[in-house]
Amino acid sequence: MVELIELSKTYQSKNKTVHAVDNISLKIENGEIFGIVGYSGAGKSSLLRCINMLEKPTSGQVLIDGTDITKLSLPDLRRLRQSIGMIFQHFNLIANRTVAGNIAYPMEVAGKSKAEIANRTAELLELVELSDKANVYPAQLSGGQKQRVGIARALANDPKLLLCDEATSALDPKTTRSILNLLKRINQQLGISIVLITHEMEVVKEICHRVAIMSEGKIVETGTAFQIFANPQEEITKGFVNSVLDIQLPAHLLTDKGDNKQLIKVVFKGKEAEEPIIDSMLRNFSVKANFLHARIDYIQDTPMGVFVLELAGDLAERERAIAFLDRETAGTEVIPYVS
Ligand SMILES: Nc1ncnc2c1ncn2[C@@H]1O[C@H](COP(=O)(O)OP(=O)(O)OP(=O)(O)O)[C@@H](O)[C@H]1O
Ligand SMILES: [Mg+2]
Repeated sequence: MVELIELSKTYQSKNKTVHAVDNISLKIENGEIFGIVGYSGAGKSSLLRCINMLEKPTSGQVLIDGTDITKLSLPDLRRLRQSIGMIFQHFNLIANRTVAGNIAYPMEVAGKSKAEIANRTAELLELVELSDKANVYPAQLSGGQKQRVGIARALANDPKLLLCDEATSALDPKTTRSILNLLKRINQQLGISIVLITHEMEVVKEICHRVAIMSEGKIVETGTAFQIFANPQEEITKGFVNSVLDIQLPAHLLTDKGDNKQLIKVVFKGKEAEEPIIDSMLRNFSVKANFLHARIDYIQDTPMGVFVLELAGDLAERERAIAFLDRETAGTEVIPYVS
């Protein structure tokens, strides 16, 4: 549905050139929720804004359903923009229009009839669960409600693509979750493809099917959300993944407790996280295990588990138990004691 071919965007300021988007080629499939992750200044917004030509690329192509939109005439581009919705970190609502007025705005611009606008506005208010706020002004809404209005407005002209620029970055975790659920519902029920940019891996974990990691204007790694979490290749990707999965144990748990004990970290990836492997280990070897940390994350519906155990038993038995775990799991790591 969206294909970027050797896309670049450079900004020219007085004495330097900034390569905000540097020769990016990328394909986003129909029906997908595609995440672009990167630190501040990576070029995410510039890239996203090239997809609807809010930013004119310096070179390269942006194909939407096969049409290179960088070559469109202004009227054609206006028409195309109606099929692409966009939402923003700071919502960008019109302060002196009511909620209904904000949602109606893009339909007015598109020249829709009054009746059509009224019907569609009511429908969208229901979709985002704000029917009771139709006549309220943005200043009277919470952040989450403002973003719901932003989403309804973005959907007004029935887009097939929704671009989200840090749509949840200004929201608390609970509100973030409700907005992500709404986006997921929009993707599944209305079949709208979504490209979202974020610096939060939690967002990726919750809703993205595929992800691209962006750094200094370039895509450094792409994969399914699960691949990226389970098997990050680049250092920067590992950093992002660890921001979600990393564990910090209190120091007193890491000190040496005698010869017959050691700490091990066990990582399960995918279906095996649902199998009773630790239970098998305890039954097959004469070791005891004390759980110091246990966590299972779901990347979409695929589980990933990280456990830290204090394993007790004589050395030979512990070694056999660890070898067993190593065979059966994605990675058993022996965490050394800090003496
Ligand atoms: N209009 C502009 N003029 C000059 N430089 C710009 C302009 N817009 C962005 N840049 C520069 O381009 C680079 C990428 O900016 P961009 O806003 O795309 O990054 P980002 O990944 O969205 O960052 P953030 O997470 O902070 O929003 C930065 O170095 C930025 O300073
Ligand atoms: Mg940005």
